[in-house]
Amino acid sequence: MSILDLDVIKSFVRVCDDGYSEGWHERNGGNLSYRMTNEEVEACKPYFTYDRPWVNMGVQADNLKNEYFMVTGTGKFFRNTILDPAANICIVEINDAGDSYRIVWGLVNGGGPTSEFPTHFMNHSVRVAATDGKCRVIYHAHPVNIIALTFVLPLTSEAFSKVLWQSMTECPIIFPNGVGVVEWMIPGGAEIAHRTCELLKTYDAVVWAHHGLFVSGDTFDNAYGLMHTIEKSAEIYCRILSLGQPIRQTISDEGLVDVAAAYGQTLNKDLLK
Ligand code: 13P
Ligand code: ZN
Repeated sequence: MSILDLDVIKSFVRVCDDGYSEGWHERNGGNLSYRMTNEEVEACKPYFTYDRPWVNMGVQADNLKNEYFMVTGTGKFFRNTILDPAANICIVEINDAGDSYRIVWGLVNGGGPTSEFPTHFMNHSVRVAATDGKCRVIYHAHPVNIIALTFVLPLTSEAFSKVLWQSMTECPIIFPNGVGVVEWMIPGGAEIAHRTCELLKTYDAVVWAHHGLFVSGDTFDNAYGLMHTIEKSAEIYCRILSLGQPIRQTISDEGLVDVAAAYGQTLNKDLLK
């Protein structure tokens, strides 16, 4: 028995590998974090060590004190994760104050959690509050088509949500709250973390202009599925634009509201104005 046999690690690595196969993770692009359950932490504890230092994150969250996160390493390639999980990902423990982490497993050849960990951490805090503790996954990727749209659409939630909802019928059911959009900013710091968090109070996913997409979810499947759905819808819209023809017909605003309602969802109508 090894820690690598545990389902939680296998599921985490599968997301990394599938995302790489989709072309969303060139080089070290993208990052993934997962808030572990108590049972998963107990199962992993025999493999933990406590000799690495506490590191202050520059952000703080009361509702994440003493939690454990599985996280991709900064500068590590998603492509390599499946070959050697222990060298490319880690588990971090959050301290009593909710402002620092220490690595308790993984990154055996050195390194730290993703440079976007302040953003992931604050995103978890907001989504845990917004979902009554259900949210466990924050996933950041660099999908081609959603990034391409940030060069041609207005950088507003209204513009992006409507185009994505209209381009594939399932979209209003899968992300009825719409998507947020952050204008171009320097990644990796507290400022972009706070900006993203403000939007995640309302939206399940946030587009970073000229950079990529952040999604949240209660399970790996749902977070991955949201990334996949948004990117596929963006791809369809990019194909439509590349046809160079006027759009003759699309789904009406009423249709978007109705399809969400037919599947028990309430569309965020504020974005249709
Ligand atoms: P990391 O290698 O630090 O995770 O950074 C990758 C990335 O996508 C930054 O936004
Ligand atoms: Zn990135």
